[in-house]
Amino acid sequence: MKKIVTIIGARPQIIKASALSRAISKNYSNSLTEIIVHTGQHYDHNMSAIFFDELGIPKPHYNLNVGSSSHGKQTAVMIEGLEEILIKEQPHAMVVYGDTNSTLAGAIAASKLNIPVVHIEAGLRSFNKTMPEEINRIMCDHVSTLLFSPTKAGFDNLVNEGFNPNNNAPYSFDNPNIVHSGDVMYDNSLYFSTLSDQKTTLLEDLNLTKDSFILCTIHRNHNTDDSKRLTAIFKALHHITKQHNTTIILPLHPRTKKLMRSNIDKEVLENIKENTNIQIIEPVSFLEMIALEKNANLIITDSGGVQKEAYFFKKPCVILRPETEWVELVDNGTAIIVDADYDKIIDGTNMFLNTTSTLTFPSLFGDGKTAEYICEEIINL
Ligand code: UD1
Ligand code: UDP
Repeated sequence: MKKIVTIIGARPQIIKASALSRAISKNYSNSLTEIIVHTGQHYDHNMSAIFFDELGIPKPHYNLNVGSSSHGKQTAVMIEGLEEILIKEQPHAMVVYGDTNSTLAGAIAASKLNIPVVHIEAGLRSFNKTMPEEINRIMCDHVSTLLFSPTKAGFDNLVNEGFNPNNNAPYSFDNPNIVHSGDVMYDNSLYFSTLSDQKTTLLEDLNLTKDSFILCTIHRNHNTDDSKRLTAIFKALHHITKQHNTTIILPLHPRTKKLMRSNIDKEVLENIKENTNIQIIEPVSFLEMIALEKNANLIITDSGGVQKEAYFFKKPCVILRPETEWVELVDNGTAIIVDADYDKIIDGTNMFLNTTSTLTFPSLFGDGKTAEYICEEIINL
């Protein structure tokens, strides 16, 4: 029996982790045992607890309750707590997801204890080191032993950074295994799509019908913390609702909620408040989010996960960032990068809403069984 410690902390990691937990309980409970550690980076009910029951994720064995603070402090407190748990649990490997401060803390704590790090979502790069996530990704990848890249582009990035694609087992820090594995979030989207149809009433509750609204999310620090950028985004959203006489649904991240009042130009903020076609709601559950994604006619977002889910559910996507790690979405012509530029946001939206040509969404993210594949690689480590 192999023991893994899984680190989660931020909303997307809780959702990602459900794919592996599900695979373990269905197929690998005789060979893999999982200890889940929640760092407490996200803690509001609808940023954390809401996902556990809904997605059938086992309750965390530990919660460090670190809460919010500066990057250095938050990461340091996590490392301290994780080190203690790893020493106590003595796992065969530690699993981390994505690129948050919880990912970085896990990678540092485990690698210093010579515990193999398994990084799920390895190799992704924005090539923009002013993004905190880019630092977290690079640091985590370079102390990992098993690196699972969801995309071919991610795998190629690792090769370009000096990882040898021809290493053979036994794998170690100095002889890591890089794999183009597919994406556990594609597994999740397939698995939870039907459940979302059966279990959610959000569309009815909000009086929404299919293809009659735009879904939007905003939380990236470059957008929320910069008054010019946040104002340009909201001004563009206001314009879009008027031009297309359409509704925009905006489940608002707590970071953005906190910064809206101080960082949006007063006049624009007043317009937003008075605009009944911009519906700002609390963050929703994952099944509700899928319902919104499946039924929107367009998605405008700065989220990494939501960009991809737009693709999974065959929706065009307007990306509120200067670049993306998910380059294949843009190469495929179904997503467009518009940064936080008022004109580009409107032009990008018009391009998709006015298009009559059919968009195609070829399979890019695996076969829906990535979690099973990863479990087997961990067992063989
Ligand atoms: C973090 C990740 C980001 C990821 C995002 C997913 C880092 C550096 N960033 O960004 O990569 O895309 O999570 O959502 O790890 N807050 C609450 N309640 C909560 C959580 C946060 O009110 O439950 C507020 C606090 O004011 C906090 C702010 O949101 O200071 C930011 O939270 P934090 O976890 O530091 O970063 P995110 O912006 O959520
Ligand atoms: N999500 C959710 N409810 C929301 C907003 C997002 O369940 O109100 C899900 C979304 O479907 C995706 C993940 O959270 O799976 C993305 O998280 P987020 O945008 O916070 O972070 P990122 O992916 O940018 O790191």
